[in-house]
This record gives sequence, C-alpha cells and structure tokens, in this order.
Amino acid sequence: MEEGVVIDHTILKVDSFLNHQLDISLLEEIGKEFYTYFKEKKITKIITIETSGIAFAVFVATYFGHIPVVFARKQESKINNKDCYSSKVYSFTKDKEYEVRIDKRFINAEDHVLFIDDFLANGQAILGLLEIAKQANATVEGVGIVIEKSFQNGRKRIEEKEVDLYSLARIKGFVNGKVVFVEE
Ligand code: G4P
Repeated sequence: MEEGVVIDHTILKVDSFLNHQLDISLLEEIGKEFYTYFKEKKITKIITIETSGIAFAVFVATYFGHIPVVFARKQESKINNKDCYSSKVYSFTKDKEYEVRIDKRFINAEDHVLFIDDFLANGQAILGLLEIAKQANATVEGVGIVIEKSFQNGRKRIEEKEVDLYSLARIKGFVNGKVVFVEE
C-alpha cells in the first residue's frame, strides 16, 4: 500500500522491496508464511523461475529444513547441461515468448515440488513449470504466489489444473492509482 507504484492501470511496481531492492525482513516473513500454509505436505524441492523468485524461494526452503531450491532458467547457457526439460512461455506483459528449462538432474519422479513466484498475472510462467513437472513425472504439491492480480486469469488457469494455489496478496484492481485488495 505504501511503496507499490501503479503503472498503466495493470502493473504494480514493487522494486523498492521485492524485485530490485529486497526487504529481507519481508522476504523472511514470506518464507515463513508459505511454510506455515504448506508444511503438512511432503515437499522435497522449491522451484521458481529466475530472477525475482529466487530470493524468497531461499527463505521458503530454509523453513522447510534447507531443502534445495531450483530456479528454471530463461536464458540459454553455453556451459550448462543441455539435457533439460523445457516449456515455452508467452509473456503478455512483455509480449514475447521465451523458453523455461530445468536440467533433468534437478527434477525427477521422486520429487514433490512447491512452485514459488512473485507475480501471478495470466499464469503462463506457472503453466510452463507445471508442464516441466509433468515431463519429469514430479508431483506438484502447490503453488505459492506473493502478489496475485486477481483481475487477470492466472488463478483460473491454475485452479483448472487442480493445484493448491496460495497467494499472499490478492489484488482486485487499481483505483485512482491505489491498490484494492480482494476481500477474503
Ligand atoms: P504470467 O506468467 O502470470 O502470465 O505473467 P506475465 O507473463 O505477464 O509476466 C511476465 C513478467 O512480468 C514476470 O516477471 C512477472 O513476474 C512480471 N509481472 C507481471 N505482472 C507484474 C506486475 O504487475 N508488476 C511487476 N513488477 N511485474 C509483473 P519476469 O519477466 O519473469 O521478471 P523477473 O522475475 O526476471 O524479474
């Protein structure tokens, strides 16, 4: 409410605490809250997509007893293993398609994974991760989102896949440059 800046009626800039400068106390609380919600599940790995998700995925993993964090890569790498599961993701925000990939050594059929990301807009990034989990035969235990823009259709798309989705802040819309939350 205090630091988010609304841009173009659809984008919330949160770079002073979440995706450029990081508020470490907040990230720790985010980690604790996702742990509290998902702790009954037998989670073996936290999975996110580079870049912004990595920071708080680490706190989530710490609360789960220092389990590994795997971040899906968006950039092709010359030195990293090419033997990857991959999925194409279309970004409406950036109007471009990109590929997300995870090395086959880091996700497999024994894994019970929790997906973590900063924003849920149209759900394309999470759908890409769900596709990768399917290729790897991994079990998806849930999806944790920090900021859900509930006026876009990401939640609907994820719920259609019957995945447990928990968002910390659910935004109904922006009115006069201010955030209006979904009433619980
Ligand atoms: P989707 O996955 O839900 O369909 O979202 P979309 O493709 O539209 O999002 C593309 C990128 O834009 C993602 O970051 C996402 O986190 C970000 N994004 C979406 N809506 C907002 C918003 O309202 N505010 C901000 N600040 N970001 C938003 P990314 O490209 O993966 O960036 P990064 O993680 O490398 O920083």
